[in-house]
Amino acid sequence: MTADLQSVIEKLVSGGDITREEIILLLENRNEEIKTYLAQKASAVARKYYGNKVFVRGLIEFTNYCKNDCYYCGIRCSNKNASRYRLTREEILECASHGYDLGFRTIVLQGGEDAYFKDDLIADIVKSIKSEHPDCAVTLSIGEKSFESYKKFFDAGADRYLLRHETADAEHYAKLHPSNLSSENRKQCLFNLKKIGFQTGAGFMVGSPYQTTGNIADDLLFLKKLDPEMIGIGPFIPHKETPFADMTAGTLELTLFLLSIIRLMLPTVLLPATTALGTIDPRGRELGILAGANVVMPNLSPVSVRKKYDLYDNKICTGEEAAECMNCLKRRIESIGYEIVTDRGDNVRYVKEH
Ligand code: SAM
Ligand code: FES
Repeated sequence: MTADLQSVIEKLVSGGDITREEIILLLENRNEEIKTYLAQKASAVARKYYGNKVFVRGLIEFTNYCKNDCYYCGIRCSNKNASRYRLTREEILECASHGYDLGFRTIVLQGGEDAYFKDDLIADIVKSIKSEHPDCAVTLSIGEKSFESYKKFFDAGADRYLLRHETADAEHYAKLHPSNLSSENRKQCLFNLKKIGFQTGAGFMVGSPYQTTGNIADDLLFLKKLDPEMIGIGPFIPHKETPFADMTAGTLELTLFLLSIIRLMLPTVLLPATTALGTIDPRGRELGILAGANVVMPNLSPVSVRKKYDLYDNKICTGEEAAECMNCLKRRIESIGYEIVTDRGDNVRYVKEH
């Protein structure tokens, strides 16, 4: 190993800031020894802040209608073969209560950008969940909205918001999205969410089409600058009815390496081992935890609609009831020496500040 590479690794492990060039050097020269070493260091950092706890989030995918046309996504508006659904307010509240009974203390409402769900309706749903389950955190993941809309959701009681930045580079962004969507607006939304007081989540797909090592370095530096409470990364997986049907999927190997780097760069961040990671490898989520992740997000949506929230091909857990996924995940997490807990699972930094 060169002295330069050695010094980048030492800097990363000791919590120093690494530069774009240093990240590229690390990514381009990674080998088994480096990956194992950084995974050990990263999982030790996660254990320092969160012990052997893994937090669960109950994901309710409440609508697959979407006005956007992101080239990678199976529920894009141009996919005329998608079978569209939206859950009613009552169905959403029922799912949340079922999740509560199963031990979830964070409910994530995720969906396409669906004009049917006006701000007042979202605010009302958030309020109802919070009043029925005051000890639950509510996370929203419903895309780009105005500052005022975000503020309305926050005032209704929403605690967190997930909005992956997708890629920090404007040119790369334009290769993944039509021209009415911009990286600039996406980033502005993230800064607005932070300003309002949300625990905020950003992130990107690993191995998205046209992604370069430089793009990944920029993504990591953007995350460092934004300093979000949560970061979601998972492999890009092609969907057969999108323009990217024939593109290559992101890899388990690079996703795990990036999870370790992210854990070392942002030590207290809440970092899920995503469903996409579990989809490209049967042990993806367990390996994600061992690389530094500390969150899993099983699905709470009714099984009748699961297959329809079809972002990418071969998505796992589309036939299992929420209780089955919870049991399955408990077993998986315990098999690697960790434990799923009934807890809101806030970022320790947020807990200290509030
Ligand atoms: N509409 C909301 C938004 O845009 O943030 C939330 C739903 S969106 C489908 C959630 C995330 O799914 C996106 O941020 C994207 O990173 C991920 N995703 C979409 N298509 C994917 C694919 N083909 N492979 C992997 N992840 C994908
Ligand atoms: Fe859904 Fe394993 S987590 S079946």
